[in-house]
Amino acid sequence: MNKKLVMLTAYDYPTAKIVDEVGVDYLLVGDSLGMVVLGYPNTTFVTMQDMLHHVQAVARGAKKSIIVADMPIHTYDNTEDALKNAKLFIKAGAHMVKIEGNKPEIVKALKKKNINVIGHLGLLPQTAETYRVQGKDRKAAQEIFQAAINLENAGVQAIILECIPQRLAEKITQQLKVPSIGIGAGKFCDGQVLVLHDVIGLSGFQGKFVKQYANVRETIKNAVSAFKEDVLKERFPAEKESFL
Ligand code: KIV
Repeated sequence: MNKKLVMLTAYDYPTAKIVDEVGVDYLLVGDSLGMVVLGYPNTTFVTMQDMLHHVQAVARGAKKSIIVADMPIHTYDNTEDALKNAKLFIKAGAHMVKIEGNKPEIVKALKKKNINVIGHLGLLPQTAETYRVQGKDRKAAQEIFQAAINLENAGVQAIILECIPQRLAEKITQQLKVPSIGIGAGKFCDGQVLVLHDVIGLSGFQGKFVKQYANVRETIKNAVSAFKEDVLKERFPAEKESFL
């Protein structure tokens, strides 16, 4: 059995540093940052400027991991835009970029300029009308399967499979030579990715495919309440926090 690949999102310097120190294969500066840390309603509000700012912060914190920059919606509608924007990400410190959907022509154009690409199939948050499991019927499953083959032939490094039935992800994984990385796609993928803020319980999102390993939201709340109480009761600062 091959070693599974581990990918987590990171949007800033301190979390990139922590995750990188633990050691993961990929740090994804996902456009999920739009909802998770910028408070937008969905990923379609995320701009190149937003992403570049966060890619730079992650690049300052990570020393070993491969940094993947998620290309925001409409930044890769054609090969010229894709190339121009992907180059900005590489300059900002990303090692590769990720694009959503069946877009082999964009992958080929980027590869031609030595920019590596990760594909993303299944649930595509940039264009999805509703967030639900994809590829449940035969036709939809076949389309995702074929798209995976197209992306592999175009030269992607890996393909993220989001919210598809486990059996479809298994079939795609068996077919592909490049690794599949699942999120809500079951255990047969070559690797797994989750949003860090979901994993540590800071986003408040608890989808079926998420496993929460900590409750950082609660930890922050408790610390903030304790600080507030200390200030109000004049217990802080004490002598040890003061210059006497
Ligand atoms: O934007 C993101 O974080 C993603 C992952 C959920 C795969 O695309």
